[in-house]
Amino acid sequence: MAPISDSTRLLHDLEPVVTENLDRHLAAAKEWMPHEYVPWSLGRDFADLGGDAWDPEQSRLTPVARTALEVNLLTEDNLPSYHREIERAFGRDRAWGAWVHRWTAEEGRHAYCIRDYLLVTRGVDPVELERARMDVMQTGFDAEEKPLLHVLAYVSFQELATRVSHRNTGRYASDPIAEKLLARVATDENLHMVFYRNLVKAALEIDPGPTLRAITDEVVGFQMPGSMIAGFTRKAAQIAKAGIYDLRIHHDEIIWPLLRQWGVFDLEGVGAEGEKARGELADFLTGLDAQATRFEEQRARLEARQAAGS
Ligand SMILES: [Fe+2]
Ligand SMILES: [Fe+2]
Repeated sequence: MAPISDSTRLLHDLEPVVTENLDRHLAAAKEWMPHEYVPWSLGRDFADLGGDAWDPEQSRLTPVARTALEVNLLTEDNLPSYHREIERAFGRDRAWGAWVHRWTAEEGRHAYCIRDYLLVTRGVDPVELERARMDVMQTGFDAEEKPLLHVLAYVSFQELATRVSHRNTGRYASDPIAEKLLARVATDENLHMVFYRNLVKAALEIDPGPTLRAITDEVVGFQMPGSMIAGFTRKAAQIAKAGIYDLRIHHDEIIWPLLRQWGVFDLEGVGAEGEKARGELADFLTGLDAQATRFEEQRARLEARQAAGS
């Protein structure tokens, strides 16, 4: 008989936790209707149907708000790749499979309601947006053979990061309709984060050493799921400069709340592997904190210079 892999054993050991959290999720997730969040009365035909082509003057959004909304939307657009990734890691069976499909169904509405909002309000260039969507989906998202514990740690951080990114983009957009829509999407992301966070918590009890290793690897190597978007580095820099998502937010509002929830630095009896991973994590966090402070100082200096010059 072939040996049972660590991931296969963990899938089995974690299944009762998945069942319990799927039930909790289904009870907590309120039904909502994406069409209720889109101001359809603002919509009109584009050029090929006898209307006007898009023009930047038509957008009520600032260039940075446009960039942030576009990055969030293109990230959501890559759902087929994310579905493939979690189906590979979690499988299609029983509670795991039920979660994979439920999660995919919930994620499915995020891209189309944000796109509907942007098209109806003429918030972004629809031609550029469509070309970028084609590009992102053809590039896809590939986590290769990432083991189960690493996938669980990554999606915990990623769901929280997308929650904060949607919520802060909504606030920044200065449009109450965009804010309401993105707050609703952020509520979905929050419930997803809670689901994965609880699985990591259970994994820490079952296998503390390997789970701490996975958490450390995913914090150290973290990349936003949209990092394959063309011009992502430049766009992320604009988003950080505007304070929508920056290193300080990443450190204070994404990484640390989860590490605290999991009690990462309080757990006892984590073995040599766990201690080693935790040491590396602590060192990395010290560096990240310093880097976040440097970025904030640079930004403040730049803002002060701009204010003095204007
Ligand atoms: Fe989403
Ligand atoms: Fe999500």
